[in-house]
Amino acid sequence: MSYQTLTILGSTGSIGESTLDVVSRHPERFRIFALSGHHQVEKLADQCLRFRPRYAVVSDEHHARRLRELLGSLKSDTEVLHGKQALTDIAVAPEVTGVMAAIVGAAGLQPTLAAARQGKTVYLANKETLVVSGSLFMQAAQQSGAKVLPVDSEHNAIFQVLPRDFSGSLDAHGIQSLILTASGGPFLDTPLNRFADITPQQAVKHPNWSMGQKISVDSATMMNKGLELIEAHWLFNCPAEKLEVVVHPQSVIHSMVRYADGSVLAQMGTPDMRTPIAYCLGLPERMASGVAPLDFGKLSALTFRQPDFERFPCLKLAYQAMRQGGDAPCVLNAANEIAVAAFLNGRIRFTDIFTVVEQSLSAHAGGGANSIEHLLASDETVRQYAETVCRTFSSR
Ligand SMILES: NC(=O)c1ccc[n+]([C@@H]2O[C@H](COP(=O)([O-])OP(=O)(O)OC[C@H]3O[C@@H](n4cnc5c(N)ncnc54)[C@H](OP(=O)(O)O)[C@@H]3O)[C@@H](O)[C@H]2O)c1
Repeated sequence: MSYQTLTILGSTGSIGESTLDVVSRHPERFRIFALSGHHQVEKLADQCLRFRPRYAVVSDEHHARRLRELLGSLKSDTEVLHGKQALTDIAVAPEVTGVMAAIVGAAGLQPTLAAARQGKTVYLANKETLVVSGSLFMQAAQQSGAKVLPVDSEHNAIFQVLPRDFSGSLDAHGIQSLILTASGGPFLDTPLNRFADITPQQAVKHPNWSMGQKISVDSATMMNKGLELIEAHWLFNCPAEKLEVVVHPQSVIHSMVRYADGSVLAQMGTPDMRTPIAYCLGLPERMASGVAPLDFGKLSALTFRQPDFERFPCLKLAYQAMRQGGDAPCVLNAANEIAVAAFLNGRIRFTDIFTVVEQSLSAHAGGGANSIEHLLASDETVRQYAETVCRTFSSR
């Protein structure tokens, strides 16, 4: 069997580690070309020793120096690079067949887009790439012939239950809607009058999934589901009116497709990201992921409810941004990244996240999304604006 040569962008994060765990179970199928991290240099050094990539990339010179010291003392052959260009270089190198896009936030956009332009297979966890630049990204993949495989569990579930020959037209396949399930996060039943006092420690404790901090807060506000709606819109060419969200607190059904004959097809499993990762990496075969089998004897109930927009107003903002189109999703994403970081740093309250994003959308959305330069400029402007809004809250 021929093997795949992978670059893992964001290997030190939650998705990155799960990917390496899956890869380690199938050494005959994969070689690691490059790994990347941001701050967790010790973890990256350890990964380099285990997987012996040709390159390891960190964001700045300081961390690169530290990583070189660590690797030097461990007699590793991995070459250390740093900076944004290096991330793009390891994503487009000719040896690379597939790129796991698992950097968090818009920081992952440029190398992921570059991989798509270069015709690589893109294993897409970084949902922000599609939120910010969905049209450009999908066009780039189409032009180069790059395969885009969804790692996000909901999109992966939909991908698994779509017809094998899905052409990109829902109507042609008798598909009425795509149904994204949402756990509802840790505050599904918390009294609304306690929301303003929610702490970062409470917000990052997801009831079912173990994830990075930013996506955990997004799950708590349900902005994550909003970002996923936009992601599904681009991935499956699905209009806003054919996208449904249903709250399913057990996270056993990962998403569903509703067909014209009344059938609803669902994909189920133990909530563990190694399943969608293994599905994407193994295609067209299924391969072991290390995930515990779903034990029906232990499942007491699968329950469902409608999302509550009063409790989760960020979800409403995301629907609004998706319908508005143009640069509105980019604005939504940039403002949300700043607001979540400010919340995690204790500078603003949980409930302020919505206000920062809402004000940013009112002040800045309305431009086009035809060039990456425009989107990056808009992203930068909105970040500065959202920072000033956060400062007004911090000085309360
Ligand atoms: N975790 C999940 O279950 C899950 C599920 C579906 C989708 N996703 C998506 O997958 C992506 C990764 O999520 P995650 O939970 O794995 O995040 P995470 O645990 O926070 O990891 C993020 C990774 O990105 C790196 N990174 C952070 N900021 C960076 C920057 N400015 N430049 C370059 N690298 C940077 C981090 O490096 P250091 O750790 O070294 O600082 C780390 O390797 C997100 O887009 C998320 O929405 C995650």
